Amino acid sequence: MNFDRIYLTGFMGSGKSSVAPRLARGLGYTSLDLDEAVVQATGLSIPALFDLYGEERFRQEEREALLATGGQTGLVVSLGGGVIAREDNLDWLLGHGTLVYLRGTPQFLASRLAQSRRNRPMLFDEHGEQLEDAALRTRVEQLLAQRAARYERAHFTVDIDGRDIRQVAAYIRRLLVQQGGPGRR
Ligand code: S3P
Repeated sequence: MNFDRIYLTGFMGSGKSSVAPRLARGLGYTSLDLDEAVVQATGLSIPALFDLYGEERFRQEEREALLATGGQTGLVVSLGGGVIAREDNLDWLLGHGTLVYLRGTPQFLASRLAQSRRNRPMLFDEHGEQLEDAALRTRVEQLLAQRAARYERAHFTVDIDGRDIRQVAAYIRRLLVQQGGPGRR
Protein backbone atom coordinates (compact mmCIF):
# COMPACT_ATOMS: atom_id res chain seq x y z
CA MET A 1 0.00 0.00 0.00
CA ASN A 2 1.31 3.42 -0.98
CA PHE A 3 0.75 5.97 1.80
CA ASP A 4 2.66 8.82 0.13
CA ARG A 5 -0.64 10.26 -0.97
CA ILE A 6 -4.11 9.73 0.46
CA TYR A 7 -6.88 10.45 -2.07
CA LEU A 8 -10.45 11.08 -0.92
CA THR A 9 -13.17 10.23 -3.40
CA GLY A 10 -16.95 10.24 -3.14
CA PHE A 11 -20.01 11.98 -4.48
CA MET A 12 -20.52 15.75 -4.29
CA GLY A 13 -21.58 16.65 -0.78
CA SER A 14 -19.74 13.77 0.89
CA GLY A 15 -17.46 16.21 2.73
CA LYS A 16 -14.15 15.42 0.99
CA SER A 17 -12.95 19.05 0.98
CA SER A 18 -13.66 19.48 4.70
CA VAL A 19 -12.27 16.10 5.75
CA ALA A 20 -8.99 16.50 3.80
CA PRO A 21 -7.41 19.37 5.82
CA ARG A 22 -8.51 17.83 9.10
CA LEU A 23 -7.10 14.43 8.18
CA ALA A 24 -3.90 16.03 6.85
CA ARG A 25 -3.34 17.83 10.16
CA GLY A 26 -3.68 14.56 12.05
CA LEU A 27 -1.18 12.85 9.78
CA GLY A 28 1.33 15.69 9.53
CA TYR A 29 0.53 15.84 5.79
CA THR A 30 -0.41 18.76 3.52
CA SER A 31 -3.90 18.93 2.02
CA LEU A 32 -4.76 19.81 -1.55
CA ASP A 33 -8.18 20.35 -3.13
CA LEU A 34 -8.20 19.24 -6.77
CA ASP A 35 -11.03 21.60 -7.78
CA GLU A 36 -9.01 24.46 -6.27
CA ALA A 37 -5.97 23.36 -8.28
CA VAL A 38 -8.07 23.51 -11.47
CA VAL A 39 -9.37 26.97 -10.56
CA GLN A 40 -5.83 28.19 -9.95
CA ALA A 41 -4.48 26.65 -13.16
CA THR A 42 -7.22 28.08 -15.38
CA GLY A 43 -8.05 31.30 -13.56
CA LEU A 44 -11.73 30.35 -13.91
CA SER A 45 -14.35 29.14 -11.44
CA ILE A 46 -15.69 25.63 -12.05
CA PRO A 47 -19.10 26.93 -13.27
CA ALA A 48 -17.36 29.42 -15.59
CA LEU A 49 -15.11 26.68 -16.97
CA PHE A 50 -18.14 24.45 -17.71
CA ASP A 51 -20.06 27.37 -19.15
CA LEU A 52 -17.31 28.72 -21.41
CA TYR A 53 -15.54 25.52 -22.51
CA GLY A 54 -17.78 22.57 -21.53
CA GLU A 55 -17.45 19.56 -19.28
CA GLU A 56 -14.88 17.77 -21.46
CA ARG A 57 -12.42 20.65 -21.11
CA PHE A 58 -12.97 20.64 -17.34
CA ARG A 59 -12.22 16.88 -17.27
CA GLN A 60 -8.94 17.47 -19.14
CA GLU A 61 -7.87 20.17 -16.70
CA GLU A 62 -8.90 17.93 -13.82
CA ARG A 63 -6.78 15.05 -15.15
CA GLU A 64 -3.73 17.30 -15.56
CA ALA A 65 -4.12 18.55 -11.99
CA LEU A 66 -4.48 14.95 -10.81
CA LEU A 67 -1.30 13.75 -12.53
CA ALA A 68 0.60 16.72 -11.07
CA THR A 69 -0.13 15.46 -7.54
CA GLY A 70 2.02 12.39 -8.34
CA GLY A 71 5.12 14.55 -7.89
CA GLN A 72 4.39 15.29 -4.21
CA THR A 73 4.44 13.14 -1.11
CA GLY A 74 2.82 13.56 2.31
CA LEU A 75 -0.36 14.75 0.66
CA VAL A 76 -4.09 14.33 1.36
CA VAL A 77 -6.01 15.17 -1.83
CA SER A 78 -9.74 15.84 -1.97
CA LEU A 79 -10.83 14.84 -5.47
CA GLY A 80 -13.79 16.23 -7.37
CA GLY A 81 -16.64 13.72 -7.34
CA GLY A 82 -16.32 12.94 -11.06
CA VAL A 83 -12.58 12.18 -11.24
CA ILE A 84 -13.12 8.43 -10.96
CA ALA A 85 -15.69 8.46 -13.78
CA ARG A 86 -12.66 8.20 -16.10
CA GLU A 87 -11.25 4.70 -16.01
CA ASP A 88 -7.70 5.93 -16.64
CA ASN A 89 -7.94 8.29 -13.64
CA LEU A 90 -9.17 5.48 -11.41
CA ASP A 91 -6.37 3.14 -12.52
CA TRP A 92 -3.82 5.89 -11.93
CA LEU A 93 -5.19 6.62 -8.46
CA LEU A 94 -5.09 2.97 -7.39
CA GLY A 95 -1.42 2.84 -8.36
CA HIS A 96 -0.24 6.16 -6.91
CA GLY A 97 -1.68 6.33 -3.42
CA THR A 98 -4.34 5.11 -1.05
CA LEU A 99 -7.86 5.75 -2.33
CA VAL A 100 -10.59 6.21 0.28
CA TYR A 101 -14.28 6.37 -0.67
CA LEU A 102 -16.58 8.52 1.49
CA ARG A 103 -19.85 6.66 0.84
CA GLY A 104 -23.19 8.31 1.50
CA THR A 105 -26.74 7.29 0.60
CA PRO A 106 -28.47 9.41 -2.07
CA GLN A 107 -30.89 10.71 0.59
CA PHE A 108 -28.09 11.91 2.85
CA LEU A 109 -26.10 13.46 -0.02
CA ALA A 110 -29.15 15.18 -1.51
CA SER A 111 -30.05 16.74 1.82
CA ARG A 112 -26.51 18.09 2.22
CA LEU A 113 -26.42 19.31 -1.38
CA ALA A 114 -29.72 21.12 -1.00
CA GLN A 115 -27.71 23.57 1.16
CA SER A 116 -24.71 23.94 -1.20
CA ARG A 117 -25.15 23.24 -4.90
CA ARG A 118 -24.32 26.73 -6.18
CA ASN A 119 -20.84 25.88 -7.43
CA ARG A 120 -21.76 22.55 -8.96
CA PRO A 121 -22.69 22.54 -12.66
CA MET A 122 -23.49 18.80 -12.54
CA LEU A 123 -26.47 19.80 -10.38
CA PHE A 124 -27.79 22.47 -12.77
CA ASP A 125 -30.67 21.93 -15.18
CA GLU A 126 -30.39 22.56 -18.93
CA HIS A 127 -31.01 26.29 -18.38
CA GLY A 128 -28.20 26.62 -15.86
CA GLU A 129 -30.60 26.78 -12.92
CA GLN A 130 -29.96 24.84 -9.73
CA LEU A 131 -31.99 21.67 -9.36
CA GLU A 132 -34.30 21.59 -6.36
CA ASP A 133 -36.12 19.04 -4.23
CA ALA A 134 -37.29 15.96 -6.15
CA ALA A 135 -35.32 16.92 -9.29
CA LEU A 136 -32.13 17.26 -7.22
CA ARG A 137 -32.72 13.89 -5.56
CA THR A 138 -33.32 12.23 -8.93
CA ARG A 139 -30.09 13.67 -10.38
CA VAL A 140 -28.11 12.53 -7.34
CA GLU A 141 -29.58 9.02 -7.58
CA GLN A 142 -28.88 8.76 -11.31
CA LEU A 143 -25.30 10.06 -11.20
CA LEU A 144 -24.48 7.98 -8.14
CA ALA A 145 -25.87 4.86 -9.82
CA GLN A 146 -23.63 5.55 -12.83
CA ARG A 147 -20.54 5.98 -10.68
CA ALA A 148 -21.09 3.63 -7.74
CA ALA A 149 -19.14 0.67 -9.16
CA ARG A 150 -16.13 2.96 -9.72
CA TYR A 151 -16.24 4.45 -6.22
CA GLU A 152 -16.49 0.95 -4.77
CA ARG A 153 -13.11 0.05 -6.29
CA ALA A 154 -11.36 2.34 -3.78
CA HIS A 155 -8.94 0.64 -1.37
CA PHE A 156 -11.15 1.60 1.59
CA THR A 157 -14.76 2.71 2.07
CA VAL A 158 -16.09 4.84 4.90
CA ASP A 159 -19.85 5.18 5.46
CA ILE A 160 -20.62 8.81 6.20
CA ASP A 161 -24.38 8.92 6.91
CA GLY A 162 -24.92 10.39 10.36
CA ARG A 163 -21.19 11.07 10.87
CA ASP A 164 -19.75 14.56 11.01
CA ILE A 165 -16.48 15.71 9.41
CA ARG A 166 -14.46 15.17 12.59
CA GLN A 167 -15.70 11.60 13.00
CA VAL A 168 -15.00 10.74 9.37
CA ALA A 169 -11.45 12.15 9.57
CA ALA A 170 -10.77 10.27 12.83
CA TYR A 171 -12.13 7.06 11.35
CA ILE A 172 -9.84 7.30 8.30
CA ARG A 173 -6.86 8.05 10.51
CA ARG A 174 -7.50 4.93 12.60
CA LEU A 175 -7.93 2.90 9.45
CA LEU A 176 -4.56 4.06 8.12
CA VAL A 177 -2.84 3.27 11.42
CA GLN A 178 -4.35 -0.24 11.37
CA GLN A 179 -2.97 -0.73 7.87
CA GLY A 180 0.53 0.24 9.01
CA GLY A 181 0.25 3.67 7.42
CA PRO A 182 0.88 7.16 8.78
CA GLY A 183 -0.89 8.68 11.81
CA ARG A 184 0.20 9.76 15.24
CA ARG A 185 -1.54 7.91 18.01
C1 S3P B 1 -18.10 17.19 -9.95
C2 S3P B 1 -17.81 17.42 -8.63
C3 S3P B 1 -17.27 18.70 -8.15
C4 S3P B 1 -16.48 19.39 -9.25
C5 S3P B 1 -17.29 19.53 -10.49
C6 S3P B 1 -17.80 18.19 -11.02
C7 S3P B 1 -18.70 15.88 -10.34
O1 S3P B 1 -16.44 18.49 -7.00
O2 S3P B 1 -15.28 18.70 -9.53
O3 S3P B 1 -18.37 20.38 -10.20
O4 S3P B 1 -18.73 15.57 -11.57
O5 S3P B 1 -19.12 15.11 -9.44
P1 S3P B 1 -17.03 18.10 -5.52
O6 S3P B 1 -17.23 16.61 -5.52
O7 S3P B 1 -15.94 18.53 -4.61
O8 S3P B 1 -18.29 18.87 -5.36
